[in-house]
Amino acid sequence: MNIQIKSQLDTTCDILVLGLFEEDTELYSKYNPQLSQDLTDAIKNKRLERAFGKTYSTRINNSTYEHILIVSLGKKSDFKTDHVRRAMQRIVHALNEWKHKNATTNILDLIRNEIKDNIFSDKELGRLTAEGLILSDYVFDKYLTKKADSKIDRVVLQFNDSKDFVAGLAEGKIIAEATNFAKDLVNEPSNVVTPSYLEKTVKQLFLKNPKIKITVLERKDMEKLGMGALLGVTRASAEPPKLIIIQYNGSSGKEKPTAIVGKGLTFDAGGYDIKPAGKFVDMKIDMSGAAAVIGTIKVMNELGIKKNIIGVIPSCENMVDGSAQKPGDIVKAFNGKTIEIANTDAEGRLILADAIAYAEKTYSPDKIIDLATLTGACIVALGFYASGLVSNDEQLSKDLIDAGNTSYDRVWPLPFYEEFQDLMDGDITDLKNLSKQANDRAAGTITGGVFISKFVDKAKWAHLDIAGTAFVPEEKEYTQKNATGAGVRLLTYYFMK
Ligand code: BES
Ligand code: MN
Ligand code: ZN
Repeated sequence: MNIQIKSQLDTTCDILVLGLFEEDTELYSKYNPQLSQDLTDAIKNKRLERAFGKTYSTRINNSTYEHILIVSLGKKSDFKTDHVRRAMQRIVHALNEWKHKNATTNILDLIRNEIKDNIFSDKELGRLTAEGLILSDYVFDKYLTKKADSKIDRVVLQFNDSKDFVAGLAEGKIIAEATNFAKDLVNEPSNVVTPSYLEKTVKQLFLKNPKIKITVLERKDMEKLGMGALLGVTRASAEPPKLIIIQYNGSSGKEKPTAIVGKGLTFDAGGYDIKPAGKFVDMKIDMSGAAAVIGTIKVMNELGIKKNIIGVIPSCENMVDGSAQKPGDIVKAFNGKTIEIANTDAEGRLILADAIAYAEKTYSPDKIIDLATLTGACIVALGFYASGLVSNDEQLSKDLIDAGNTSYDRVWPLPFYEEFQDLMDGDITDLKNLSKQANDRAAGTITGGVFISKFVDKAKWAHLDIAGTAFVPEEKEYTQKNATGAGVRLLTYYFMK
């Protein structure tokens, strides 16, 4: 999709999209009296509602446009930044619905003139616009022999040329495309996306990049390093495990890096604590944390963000066969802690344990943020619209919550009380991978976090459980059903600040 800016509406487009605030009484009478009469009638008989996001379509005689779409923008005083993304979704939706390839709109100009810049700058407005358009314009139709038929060609924005707005559009495009890239990785099935495929993807994206160094630890490296936790999980898999490390050196200074660690379980069958029938089918998504890390580093690189970031992706499958790890087995992690495998399906924390301990020892990050589809409990607690946050640092939590609110890739904090801290202690080992209170299914997301925290040494740490947010059962606004790319916008906004 081509996003263009013109100082006038583009009369060569098929669809004209006009915004309308609730306070507006003029109803485009100067633009076209016939349209104005039409809108007056439509408001009267409630075909056109004034609440934000409601749409109304019409035509006018002798017009160059085939359709006119009115997008209600609600009350000016209620307008929020995410409304820009949502308004853009209405344009993409209309184009797809009517199978047209281009549209022109005055919405951004209207917003800039009517919503005063204390809620956003022109640059932010540009970023939100491109995010809304490109995030909405995603479809995973690779495996359909009959593809979604029309591809949008261009959207022409009427805007009085502003350098900042254009710069914002470019940023938003990069962010949204990386998010869509992450969606693709998650939507792909596990017979395509294996640990080796993730390695190949990372190398294709970043191999010859002077700012990026890629290191991949193979099974034999993990054995030498004593990564017994990850090695236990991968035992029954025919796919070789990988620990993929992407060092992004965006800053010339010597400041400590932040590590972002993404769970890259390319298929989770549960192991001997096997999942019940029906619970396997979505378990290709268990590498969504890895997709978020890859997508974020893609953005950092393309935006030239001046930070040092270490992307860390422990990747393997959790399968069953005669060589599989068994309940009750004891493994020793990279940091020397012993773990009793109380449940083979609590594998995410095991692979993260080795990855986090290794990353901290090797790269001395001052902050570690991990992202993982870790617990079904997080979906029970928070549903699909907020990732669960568990952290040992108040400032880091606050920064992530803020980034969640501005990116609308939102997170919600869970308590990390001292009472939780011994729930993962073992009887005959240092730790178990299942909580003492697991039979009551108490605080499953938090106790998962407690386990992971035992593998963090000095760093400030935050754990994001994206089990609910990474893959969703229905479309909402500019987010499609299935993979969402959760984490990419969140981390991007976090690092951009
Ligand atoms: N990958 C799953 C969690 C999950 C479930 C993600 C549903 C997305 C959708 C994870 O490895 C898992 O199996 N967790 C267990 C942990 C339990 C055994 C402590 C769970 O949530 O049941
Ligand atoms: Mn599992
Ligand atoms: Zn899992």
